[in-house]
Amino acid sequence: MKVLDFGSLNIDYVYSVDHAVVTGETLACTERNIFCGGKGLNQAIALAKAGVPVYMAGQIGEDGGVLTDACHAAGINTEFIRVVPGGTGHTIIQVNKEGDNCILLYGGANRSLTREYIEEVLSHFDKGDILVLQNEVNNLGYIIEKGYERGMQIVLNPSPFDDNLKNCDFGKVSMLQINEIEGRQITGEEDTGKILAKLRELYPDTKVVLTLGSVGSVYQYGNTIVRQGIYPVKAVDTTAAGDTFTGYFVASMMEELPVEKGLDLAARAAAITVTRQGATASIPERAEVEAWVFD
Ligand code: RIB
Repeated sequence: MKVLDFGSLNIDYVYSVDHAVVTGETLACTERNIFCGGKGLNQAIALAKAGVPVYMAGQIGEDGGVLTDACHAAGINTEFIRVVPGGTGHTIIQVNKEGDNCILLYGGANRSLTREYIEEVLSHFDKGDILVLQNEVNNLGYIIEKGYERGMQIVLNPSPFDDNLKNCDFGKVSMLQINEIEGRQITGEEDTGKILAKLRELYPDTKVVLTLGSVGSVYQYGNTIVRQGIYPVKAVDTTAAGDTFTGYFVASMMEELPVEKGLDLAARAAAITVTRQGATASIPERAEVEAWVFD
C-alpha cells in the first residue's frame, strides 16, 4: 500500500507580533522567520516523521527548491513534484504572544494543477493506496474523482474551507479530518453531537475525525465514537498542529493501531508541535513522541 500526499507546498513568512494587526493599523513585529510549510507538505512531513514512506505531489515555482530539500531531509519521495513557471505558494503568518496565528495565503504554483498532471500522477497509484488531500490546491474535486475511480482510499482535510469544496464529493472520501468550524460549515449544525449525527447521515461510509480545540477530538465511524482530550502545553506557535495531528493519525491507521491509541499518538505529536516555532520544522519525530512525558 502506497501513500500519496497531493497538496500544497508553501514558503511561510512568519512574523511574531503582540497581536494580529487590524485594519488601519501599522504594527512593528518583534521577529521574522522563514519556514517550509503548506498543509500538503506539513502533512507529508508528519506522516514521514511518524514512520510512513510517502510520495508527495504538487507544484512549486523555481524559487521552491527549499521545499523539495525539506522533503528529501524527511525521506519523502519527490518524483511527482513539478516545477512550473511563476512563484511558489507562500503565506504571511502573524503569530501573537499566545502562539495563535492568522494566515494570509498566496496560492501561486499550488493553484495551477492541470487535469493532465493530476491524471499522470495518479496513474502511478492503485486500488487500496492512500491519497491524502487538503484544500490549498485547485482542481481538488477532480483529484477526488480520479483517486476514487482508481479505488484509492481518500483522506481529506477540507481546510481552508471555501466555496471550491462545493465541487467535492465528500461521499467518496474514506476519512474526513475536520475542525469544529468546518464541521459547522459542512452540516449547518452548531452543536458537536448534531454535527456528528449529520455527518453520519450524509456520509455513512466516511470515517470522521473532528478536532475540537481545547476540548480534544472525536472519531466517528458508524456507531463507534472515540473521544480524546488534549495535552495542554504552553503554546509558542500553533501553526501545523492540525497537520501534525492528521499525519500521525493516518499513520496510526496504517499500522492498524486501535483508534484510542492513534488519537492519543496524534494528540501528543500535535502538542509537541505547538511548543515550537514554524510549520514543518516543529513536527516531531516518532521516537520523540513515543518518549514524551507530559507533566
Ligand atoms: O496548516 C498550516 C499551514 O497553513 C502553514 O504551513 C501555511 O503554509 C498554511 O498553508
